[in-house]
Amino acid sequence: MQILILTGLLAYLLGSVPFGVVITRALGLGDLRSIGSGNIGATNVLRTGNKGAAAATLLLDAAKGGVAVLLARWLVGEDAAQLAGLAAFLGHLFPVWLGFRGGKGVATFLGILLALDFPVGLACCATWLAVAFLSRLSSLAALAAASTSTLWMIGFGDMRMIVLGAALTLLIFVRHAANIARLRAGTEPKIGKK
Ligand code: G3P
Repeated sequence: MQILILTGLLAYLLGSVPFGVVITRALGLGDLRSIGSGNIGATNVLRTGNKGAAAATLLLDAAKGGVAVLLARWLVGEDAAQLAGLAAFLGHLFPVWLGFRGGKGVATFLGILLALDFPVGLACCATWLAVAFLSRLSSLAALAAASTSTLWMIGFGDMRMIVLGAALTLLIFVRHAANIARLRAGTEPKIGKK
C-alpha cells in the first residue's frame, strides 16, 4: 500500500512539471499564462511564434506521462502503472507549483496511453493528427482523440483501462469548456493563430 502511495506521489510530482511555462520563461518569451488562451500547453506555446519551444513542450508534456507509467510499471507493476498514469495526469491539471491551476492534459494523456497500451496510444495520436490536419483546430483534435480513446480501449484494453480512459476523457472535456464554447460559436483560432 505504502509503495502505491509513494508511486502515486512521485507520478503526480512528475506530471506537475509545467514544461510550457518553464520553456517559455527560459527563452524569454514571457509568461505563458498571459499569452493567447493562457493555457500551459504546446498549442499555446506555438502562439508565441516559437515552433521549437512548442515542439519541446509537446514532447516533454507527453514524456512526463509516459515516464511516470513506465517507471511505476518497472518498479512496482501494472496496477501501479495505471495509478501513476492517473496521478501524472492530475499533476498536469493541478500542479502544486502553479497554485493547482494547470493545463488541459492532452499531450500528457497521449504519453500516458502510449506507455499503458501502445496500440491504443498510437490510435489516439493518429486520431489527433488526422483531425488536426483536416480542421487545423487543436482543441477539436484533442476532443476527438479523447472521445475515441474509450472506443480504442474497448477493442484493445482491459476494463480498468476503459474506466481510466473514460475518467481522463471526462476531465479533458471539462478542461476544454471554453474551447467547446468557441468551437460552437465558430471563433476557435486555428493552430498557430492567436
Ligand atoms: O491541448 C490543448 C488544446 O486542445 C487547446 O489549447 O491553448 O487553444 O486552449 P488552447
